[in-house]
Amino acid sequence: MRVLPLCTIAAGSIALSRANGSPLNRRDSSTTIPLVATQFGTVFDVPVTIGNQTFQLLVDTGSSDTYVMNTGFTCINGTSNLVIPQADCLYSNKTYHTSSTYRPVQNEMFGIQYGAGLASGILAYEDVKVGGIAVQSQKIGIANISNPMGDGVNSGLLGLAYPSITSAHPANHTSNETYWFDRLPYNPLLYTMHKKGIVEPYFSLALAHTPQNESTAFGGYLTLGGLPPVNHSEFTTVPVEFTKNIPLNYTSGKRARTYWSTTLTGGIYGSSMNNLTTNLTPFQAFIDSGNYISFLPSAIVDSVNSLFSPPATYDAASGMYIVDCSAKAPQFGLIINNATFWHNGEDLIYQTSEGVCVSSLASSESVSIGGLTLNIIGVPFLKNVVAVFDFGNNEMRFAKLLEFGDGGLGGVGAGNGSVSSTSAGSSMLSTSTPWIGFGMALFASMVLSS
Ligand SMILES: *[C@@H]1O[C@H](CO)[C@@H](O)[C@H](O)[C@H]1NC(C)=O
Ligand SMILES: *[C@@H]1O[C@H](CO)[C@@H](O)[C@H](O)[C@H]1NC(C)=O
Ligand SMILES: *[C@@H]1O[C@H](CO)[C@@H](O)[C@H](O)[C@H]1NC(C)=O
Ligand SMILES: *[C@@H]1O[C@H](CO)[C@@H](O)[C@H](O)[C@H]1NC(C)=O
Ligand SMILES: *[C@@H]1O[C@H](CO)[C@@H](O)[C@H](O)[C@H]1NC(C)=O
Ligand SMILES: *[C@@H]1O[C@H](CO)[C@@H](O)[C@H](O)[C@H]1NC(C)=O
Ligand SMILES: *[C@@H]1O[C@H](CO)[C@@H](O)[C@H](O)[C@H]1NC(C)=O
Ligand SMILES: *[C@@H]1O[C@H](CO)[C@@H](O)[C@H](O)[C@H]1NC(C)=O
Ligand SMILES: *[C@@H]1O[C@H](CO)[C@@H](O)[C@H](O)[C@H]1NC(C)=O
Ligand SMILES: *[C@@H]1O[C@H](CO)[C@@H](O)[C@H](O)[C@H]1NC(C)=O
Ligand SMILES: *[C@@H]1O[C@H](CO)[C@@H](O)[C@H](O)[C@H]1NC(C)=O
Repeated sequence: MRVLPLCTIAAGSIALSRANGSPLNRRDSSTTIPLVATQFGTVFDVPVTIGNQTFQLLVDTGSSDTYVMNTGFTCINGTSNLVIPQADCLYSNKTYHTSSTYRPVQNEMFGIQYGAGLASGILAYEDVKVGGIAVQSQKIGIANISNPMGDGVNSGLLGLAYPSITSAHPANHTSNETYWFDRLPYNPLLYTMHKKGIVEPYFSLALAHTPQNESTAFGGYLTLGGLPPVNHSEFTTVPVEFTKNIPLNYTSGKRARTYWSTTLTGGIYGSSMNNLTTNLTPFQAFIDSGNYISFLPSAIVDSVNSLFSPPATYDAASGMYIVDCSAKAPQFGLIINNATFWHNGEDLIYQTSEGVCVSSLASSESVSIGGLTLNIIGVPFLKNVVAVFDFGNNEMRFAKLLEFGDGGLGGVGAGNGSVSSTSAGSSMLSTSTPWIGFGMALFASMVLSS
């Protein structure tokens, strides 16, 4: 097992520049930005300045574009395709106004298909600043059309995956059903920051647990070029792999890294720590902060979901497992290299708007669309780790999240969590909750029938 205490990297580069007699250069700068958790701890937003305005944007390791909603945008119901009031798109009412640093990109447009819906509009160069780190002339999307994808707080999204899946297209690209294809890839925000020498080529996330009764709360940290200020165990390191099930035409015919994919050793689960079963069939998955459900092989998911007390039951219409809101959650860990990352029990139960609870583990096979089966590791995992996404070395590093510095909002590893039936998610979006979130640019609209 490769265990890399990440702090030695940063310390090493600082030591080097001092040894050369030079002052700390700009590459040594790192910045930590507190996140806002919305929708009862399922969505994580970060403030980003675009032009002369600051917006909250959804933090998404499962896509690559940064977009913001344009003033006067059109909201489209994804089911009926009818124009609906802007407010129904659920974005913040703060929208983008053309600033003096705005320049449209000639002959290109922006168009993307997320699991949760579509957004499209103008591709533009703008000045973008995150946590005090600023770049000029970053390509971003300024969306004038969207399906409902907001959380009441954000005005768009910050994409943190690889350049190959950015969503610029030739200006004559008209169909909104083919945004996976016909791409003109560009460098996303963090790549630009790194290329300009202002930040090391990695970022890290530590997502916080939120009080169950608070729809909006402190959500943890995004750190660019460094580690968040939390206590954690040793890191285990895995390579970022080419995502096997993505067809070549998705990445402009070139084999390229797309999502933050790696191969896991397996899973471990049981009704208690004294009665654990391991499944050591390796599987590839990507890490997606834009998904509050994890989609994993059914061999694991079916077993874990049967271990809730009382057991979760499969709902074929939605592909989800329904579970009693006050069920006792099983022990569940993902094995990465030889390290086991346990999930806090409270992260395994997700409460929807109607007071119905579902397991936050669903099987990737049951939601495979268009022939693609992708395993997605989402928020339930990320709330229990410090995750480092390193596009310089094409590797990810994970450590157990031990403690936030702010009085114990952080996870403490395995636990028998349960949620009270009157708490989390009681004002969740709508009946057509997009189970597959922003991270996965696959089309699915699944409605929980209950
Ligand atoms: C995991 O542990 C086994 C047995 O100790 C060892 O053979 C194997 O190389 C380890 N794998 C990794 C990825 O460290
Ligand atoms: C979208 O359209 C569907 C089907 O017509 C309808 O059931 C749903 O309530 C609409 N949603 C919104 C947000 O308008
Ligand atoms: C997608 O295209 C269809 C057909 O042109 C159109 O009716 C619909 O409004 C579009 N939706 C979005 C979100 O762009
Ligand atoms: C936006 O919403 C906030 C809070 O609801 C409200 O105070 C503000 O007036 C609204 N702004 C606009 C421009 O509608
Ligand atoms: C932003 O810039 C535009 C264009 O220069 C200007 O009209 C507007 O007042 C500015 N807004 C703010 C909040 O500074
Ligand atoms: C959105 O912007 C594009 C590009 O400028 C334009 O072609 C389109 O008509 C606009 N659509 C709406 C609904 O404003
Ligand atoms: C867009 O224009 C290019 C270059 O002229 C052409 O090759 C392509 O077929 C056009 N695409 C569409 C969807 O019209
Ligand atoms: C949530 O519960 C805590 C502890 O009981 C309380 O301090 C806090 O004010 C509550 N928050 C809301 C939004 O009700
Ligand atoms: C993309 O490639 C896949 C697999 O090779 C194929 O099934 C699909 O039809 C292609 N789609 C487009 C739009 O070219
Ligand atoms: C251990 O868990 C299995 C299910 O995984 C169950 O069938 C068995 O009864 C449990 N054994 C004990 C001693 O609890
Ligand atoms: C980390 O743990 C140490 C020792 O227990 C403690 O002093 C420190 O406050 C903790 N830091 C954070 C950020 O939780």
